[in-house]
Amino acid sequence: MKKEIYPKTMSNDYDIVLKAYPEHYKLRKEVAEIIRTHINDNTDTLILEIGCGTGETTKYILTETTKTKIIAVDKEKVMIDVLKTNLSEYIDNERLLQIIEDIFNYIKKIGSLSIDCVTSSWTIHNFTRSQRTLLLHEIYRILKPNGIFVNMDKYVADDKNEEQKSLEKAIENMRKMADKKISDTAIQHEKDDRHPNIIMKEQEALSEMGKIGFKDITSYTRIGREIVVSGIK
Ligand SMILES: C[S@@+](CC[C@H](N)C(=O)[O-])C[C@H]1O[C@@H](n2cnc3c(N)ncnc32)[C@H](O)[C@@H]1O
Repeated sequence: MKKEIYPKTMSNDYDIVLKAYPEHYKLRKEVAEIIRTHINDNTDTLILEIGCGTGETTKYILTETTKTKIIAVDKEKVMIDVLKTNLSEYIDNERLLQIIEDIFNYIKKIGSLSIDCVTSSWTIHNFTRSQRTLLLHEIYRILKPNGIFVNMDKYVADDKNEEQKSLEKAIENMRKMADKKISDTAIQHEKDDRHPNIIMKEQEALSEMGKIGFKDITSYTRIGREIVVSGIK
C-alpha cells in the first residue's frame, strides 16, 4: 500500500514532474473547453477544483471563461504557494479562491446543490477505492441539478495490452526526468497506482459514476494512461 497519497519528493519539485508530460496540456485544455461549453459563464457560477496543485489546469479554466469563479483546494502549501504566484491576477480580481485543506474535510463543509462544476486533474486516482466512492458521492451531493463533474485522470485502460504498453511508455518518460530521486519516486508512484486497492480502471470507474446517479457519462481523448471523463447530475 502507498505510504503517501502524493509523494512530497514530487510536489516539492512539481515543475520537473510536469516536464515529463508535455502532451498532457491538450487534456487540460479539453477540461477547460468541456466546462466552458456546459456552464453559464456568470459571476455567480462556481467551480470546485480538487487537488489543484500549482494551478496548471486552473489556468486553462480561468482563461476559457471570463466571469466564473474557482475554489481551488489542495492540501499541500508548497503547491498552493506556486499557484498563488502564477495566478495572482485571478486572486486579485476575486475569480480564484485558494484553500489549503484536505478535500475530504473541506467538501463536507460545502452545502448540497451549491456548485455548478466540480473538476480535478491527476488527483482522484491517488485515493483508495473506498475514498473515491465517498468523494464521488460528496461531489454528486454538492453539484446543482445539471451540474457537471469533469476529471482528467489516470483511468487505466481495460485492455491489458494497451495498459502494459502505456505503463512501459510512462516509465520510459519518467527515466528521462532531470533528477534521479524524483524519477525513481515517480516510477514507484506509478507502480503503486496499480495496487488492487487503488487502481482506477476506466469501465469500472464510469460504471460507478452511473450507480451514484451521474448521467451522460462521457470519456474523451486518451493520451497514454490519462483521459478526460465527465458526468452530469
Ligand atoms: C499529481 S498532483 C496534480 C496537480 C494538478 N491538478 C495538476 O494536474 O497538475 C496531485 C495533487 O493532489 C493533491 N492532493 C492529494 N491528496 C489530496 C487531498 N486529500 N486533499 C487535497 N489535495 C490533495 C496533492 O497535494 C497534489 O497537489
